[in-house]
Amino acid sequence: MTVVNEYRPVEVFFGEGAVKKAGEVGRRFGFKALIVTGRKSTKESGALDKLINSLKQNQIEYVVFDEITPNPTDKQVNKGAEIAVNEKVDFIVGIGGGSVLDAAKAISIVSSNEGYAWDYVRYPEGSRLIPFLNRPVITIPTTAGTGSEVNRYSVLTNPMTKEKMVISHSLNYPKVALVDPELTYSMPPRLTALTGFDALMHALESLTNKRENFIAEEYSVKAIELIRKWLPVAFEEPENKEARRYMSYAAMLAGIAIDHLGVALIHAMEHPVSGHYPEVAHAEGLSALAPYITAFNYRGNPEKYALFARLMGEEEKPHKAVDALVKFIERFSLPKTLKELGVEKEKLPRLAEDVYMCARHSFAVNPVEVGMEEVEELYERAYEGRL
Ligand SMILES: [Fe+2]
Repeated sequence: MTVVNEYRPVEVFFGEGAVKKAGEVGRRFGFKALIVTGRKSTKESGALDKLINSLKQNQIEYVVFDEITPNPTDKQVNKGAEIAVNEKVDFIVGIGGGSVLDAAKAISIVSSNEGYAWDYVRYPEGSRLIPFLNRPVITIPTTAGTGSEVNRYSVLTNPMTKEKMVISHSLNYPKVALVDPELTYSMPPRLTALTGFDALMHALESLTNKRENFIAEEYSVKAIELIRKWLPVAFEEPENKEARRYMSYAAMLAGIAIDHLGVALIHAMEHPVSGHYPEVAHAEGLSALAPYITAFNYRGNPEKYALFARLMGEEEKPHKAVDALVKFIERFSLPKTLKELGVEKEKLPRLAEDVYMCARHSFAVNPVEVGMEEVEELYERAYEGRL
């Protein structure tokens, strides 16, 4: 057996009310915070007020940067970093969904080193610059999906080139995650399903790709069990305490699993989709691709795909993993094809090219050997809905 490791430089406070720890935790890092968030949802839900109250109670000054959008851009990160520098903040608090947490972490890197956000994304050849410093980051997720609160990844989009790429560096870890399931109660059913599906894809891809780490795989397995059981409940009953708690937990576990094991072709092929079509949510792209890629991939790791099928309530056979996904997608009315997402057929070769340019390092860990021909073919299948 290979030697595996488990190291988590992120301290986690998990449970209802965890957001109230923000001030006390923040005091470890200084007296002035940059709060990174989106335009609306944390203000409407009251999550932002909870955070601000906690900071005030601990005499922490703050500046709010509320311009992060879904599929956050390098520009947004650069602007946030400029504010962090000009305002001389001691630390950064990201409160919101995956986009906000990714941006908050990247703002920490860019505000502490030379250059701009795009200098730190990882091309197959490496990144242009390597960071040496960061500012402490506190992550407070308000969705249950991304896992960004506990890992080293930030996914950013460059609207000029339409590239969607990842910063992946040990200095991109947050210092503390405050995982408060109560903050997810205000998620509407569709967002609940989409973010839950993202977490499921983290668990599936980390479990089945070629990397091995039996400790991290335990997290993937647990996440799949929990999502299968509790996502339908959270979907039907937004304020079901148990369902929300287990979904927050599952998303966190899957986020740790991908930190160790990475993802594979489903994520590699999704990023160009939401990169070129920023109105498409990450999980919508995943859902439109997952069954077709799984039908291609299951032969490469029959044991793990059979396990996935069983955990999802199907017969323990590798090809049943596809059925499990199709049913799951149907159950939550998630997208089934790229066509229905508004992707244009003539764009498919360009999307395939971007997988090669931006993410071909993930080919090496995909369960089945894959090249450009297969990627193009899979985009076509996902476009037409041909399993
Ligand atoms: Fe994802």
